[in-house]
Amino acid sequence: MMSPEERQEIEHEIACYPYKQAVCVDALKILQKHRGWVSDEAVKEVAEILEMSPSEVDSVATFYNLIYRQPTGRHVIHVCDSISCWVMGCGSICEHLKKRLGINMGETTPDGRFTLLPIVCLGACDKAPAMMVGKTTHENLTPETIDALLEKLP
Ligand code: FES
Repeated sequence: MMSPEERQEIEHEIACYPYKQAVCVDALKILQKHRGWVSDEAVKEVAEILEMSPSEVDSVATFYNLIYRQPTGRHVIHVCDSISCWVMGCGSICEHLKKRLGINMGETTPDGRFTLLPIVCLGACDKAPAMMVGKTTHENLTPETIDALLEKLP
């Protein structure tokens, strides 16, 4: 059930727009911020408060790479697989991460530390290959810089 705090934050967003439906992504982000991910129950709650159908909310949630429909690890690593990063070797970056973490794309490490997901262009094409961890973009990646970064993360 939606907490009073979650409801208040969503209603605050609603007040900024002429149509409730305009805040669908923001409402999903608010629930994800509080709960870590967006469950089917959360989709229904957002649908109810925004007077949308759960399937409409689900399509929005599925469309956005940064809305998680499954529980994630403590750190979500988004590896860019758009054209510049692809040309600059994001394939080998992904392979390195998969080998190092022992998981495939879309999976979470058994210790719950890392989730590995693809993402579209991060706007750092001139510094490809790039990935985002949390809110930080990491650029000019090499296996060595990735190893150093992973070691620093709790
Ligand atoms: Fe990867 Fe733009 S293609 S940052």
